[in-house]
Amino acid sequence: MAPKTLFGLLIFLFLLVSSTALSFTFHGFNESNITREEKAKIDNQGRLELTRRENNIVGHAFYNESIKILDKNASVQPKVFSFSTCFVFSIVSPSAGPGGFGLAFTIAPSTRFPQAEGGHLLGLFNSLNDMNSSNHILVVEFDTVNGYKDATDTVGNHVGVNKNGMSSNISEPAAYFVDGKKEEFNMEKADAVCVWIEYDGETEILNLTVSPYLEPKPNKPLISQAVHIKSVMKESMFFGFSASTGKRKASAHYILGWSFALNGVAPPLDYALLPKPPPKEKHSQSFPWIKVIIGMLSALTFTLLCLFLYVTLYKRYMVFETLEDWEMDCPHRFRYRDLHLATKGFVESQLIGVGGFGSVYKGVLPRTGTEVAVKRILRTPAKGMREFAAEIESLGRLRHKNLVNLQGWCKQKNDLLLVYDYIPNGSLDSLLFSRSFVLDWNHRFRILKGVAAGLLYLHEEWEQVVIHRDVKSSNILIDGDFNAHLGDFGLARLYSHDKESHTTSVVGTIGYIAPELTRTGKASTSSDVYAFGVLLLEVVAGTRPVGSSDQFFLVDWVLENFQLGQILEVVDPKLDSIYEEEEVELVLKLGLLCAQNKAEYRPSIEQVTRYLNFDDPFPDISDCRYYDSQSSTTSLGFLEAMSTGKTSSSYSLPSIDRSTMSIEAGR
Ligand SMILES: *[C@@H]1O[C@H](CO)[C@@H](O)[C@H](O)[C@H]1NC(C)=O
Ligand SMILES: *[C@@H]1O[C@H](CO)[C@@H](O)[C@H](O)[C@H]1NC(C)=O
Ligand SMILES: *[C@@H]1O[C@H](CO)[C@@H](O)[C@H](O)[C@H]1NC(C)=O
Ligand SMILES: *[C@@H]1O[C@H](CO)[C@@H](O)[C@H](O)[C@H]1NC(C)=O
Ligand SMILES: *[C@@H]1O[C@H](CO)[C@@H](O)[C@H](O)[C@H]1NC(C)=O
Ligand SMILES: *[C@@H]1O[C@H](CO)[C@@H](O)[C@H](O)[C@H]1NC(C)=O
Ligand SMILES: *[C@@H]1O[C@H](CO)[C@@H](O)[C@H](O)[C@H]1NC(C)=O
Repeated sequence: MAPKTLFGLLIFLFLLVSSTALSFTFHGFNESNITREEKAKIDNQGRLELTRRENNIVGHAFYNESIKILDKNASVQPKVFSFSTCFVFSIVSPSAGPGGFGLAFTIAPSTRFPQAEGGHLLGLFNSLNDMNSSNHILVVEFDTVNGYKDATDTVGNHVGVNKNGMSSNISEPAAYFVDGKKEEFNMEKADAVCVWIEYDGETEILNLTVSPYLEPKPNKPLISQAVHIKSVMKESMFFGFSASTGKRKASAHYILGWSFALNGVAPPLDYALLPKPPPKEKHSQSFPWIKVIIGMLSALTFTLLCLFLYVTLYKRYMVFETLEDWEMDCPHRFRYRDLHLATKGFVESQLIGVGGFGSVYKGVLPRTGTEVAVKRILRTPAKGMREFAAEIESLGRLRHKNLVNLQGWCKQKNDLLLVYDYIPNGSLDSLLFSRSFVLDWNHRFRILKGVAAGLLYLHEEWEQVVIHRDVKSSNILIDGDFNAHLGDFGLARLYSHDKESHTTSVVGTIGYIAPELTRTGKASTSSDVYAFGVLLLEVVAGTRPVGSSDQFFLVDWVLENFQLGQILEVVDPKLDSIYEEEEVELVLKLGLLCAQNKAEYRPSIEQVTRYLNFDDPFPDISDCRYYDSQSSTTSLGFLEAMSTGKTSSSYSLPSIDRSTMSIEAGR
């Protein structure tokens, strides 16, 4: 033990004194100590990029100081110093087509290689000086393309040791030993490749070991063979790398780290300190050019077809419908043609209702396939159409889940078409008074809350106050999930629009019209609340607001029962006493509070919403002050006025039919 240690120490001391011990390590690269020629560069991650993926280029990078490699003081004749090096390289070949051509660890007398060629010659030689002993270049090549001086190139994937040219003195497919077994691997596909080269100056044995990145260093070198390199070496040589791409084959070649030692063991690289291997291109079989061409051709055909269709349709449409300039600017404007198509030409079979302002047709829009309800309003005034449209444009921007959203409109001569979301289950009124179907309490309550939410949006949540003016059960549509959608909002206003304000006609439906409306004709959010109050009572009682006999008035009837302390007597018998008493009582009292004659005592819709959600305690309304002017005679008087047409005489629009329609609907 002791003599061995002593011997080692002596050798160490001898080496220290007798030879130039030099060593360096690069974990990633920067500009210092490296000379680069041709296309080699250092990327921002610190990788030394010898070539990028571009055809016909070469790149060189060398340690910038030459290293004295020949020991001229050897006793008989000069000998080569031992050296050891270790580096990590990475090749990124293109996803389509082959890559090439490889890189080489190079020992050369100069860092410049004038007239050197790329491709197989790796940027070190040209066809004239290849294998000429005056080159003095030792090459350890990592070649990815075979076939140098053969007829065809094949996948190379081999390592070799060459003297003065590209004909290998020693050559092996890339492989490494794991547990004594030789495993081949592909240097292009590996994330990176680790290389160890050790040369022993005494025995002239060169060991070459390669392994895929992050594998431990194999115990056995791939090549361990005597190579007489003395004839190749000059006294001082440059150590570094060279790489090249070819005419058609181009890979990017990177060095991630490098260590070197003269007369010693190269310091091992710490992989954690290296820059990340560059990302690989995903390999696919071959690039599907055919698919791309077919795709492009079909896209072109499709575009041409669309263009053709557009031009023809546009022409026909232009004949069909003349547009005024201002109409072009309205985003909610539909084409008459489309609506005509959607409703199959407004045929009777598509008719789903005759409402306050016109007939409603079901339709399916030709382009999008969406179901819509198209309301056709005949004989609208030609004059003032522009303001009319502006108003509808603004209503078209209203969006709420409890509204029947207006999708758009269209003008055809003097007819106006309004396009709404299609709501499948019909109106609340039809469900409530259906003979075959009983709307249960939970659904009724949910519907009422939905209507309140819709009104709240119109009154308070949208950018401007929208007064509905015609809240009633037949204007509430119910969807498949029993959600309420309030329809026809704001429309009433359109009808009084072109009239001067002081003669504004009363629009609404008998039984839902607040008393002050008949006096002032001024609709307000408060008159909407009145109508909503009537609706509350109607839904609980399952009774229309105005009876078939002129004597019956729902609000009065409920109030009477309330005052007698028997408010639950009014509940719809169809409910069969299955309901939440607390909710029913709240809705009835709230109905009375809303449908009282004095507008100033009616709650706001926001307050109504809070009561309905039990967010606020409901006030005591037994105070008769709220109802002091309420009497059946005034209500009936007002009703008579409406029925005899005194009020409706101020209609100038198709609303004469409309008012009778409304009266019918109200009953
Ligand atoms: C770079 O060169 C300088 C000067 O020759 C030297 O001091 C330094 O150690 C070298 N660095 C490396 C990493 O070899
Ligand atoms: C370059 O790298 C060397 C060693 O790797 C380091 O000492 C030096 O500071 C670096 N120089 C720059 C400019 O980053
Ligand atoms: C090599 O590079 C280092 C650091 O960049 C520099 O200090 C030194 O002078 C260079 N040596 C030669 C011979 O250029
Ligand atoms: C090599 O020999 C020369 C003279 O022949 C001498 O000056 C020099 O110091 C020697 N170098 C070594 C490293 O022994
Ligand atoms: C080798 O190169 C030298 C110098 O370039 C030249 O003189 C010589 O003829 C070449 N030898 C052969 C065999 O081509
Ligand atoms: C490799 O070199 C050795 C000695 O330098 C020689 O004997 C051998 O024939 C060479 N092998 C090839 C394949 O060139
Ligand atoms: C080269 O490899 C052989 C076989 O593994 C080993 O005995 C020898 O020490 C190695 N030489 C160097 C310089 O590492």
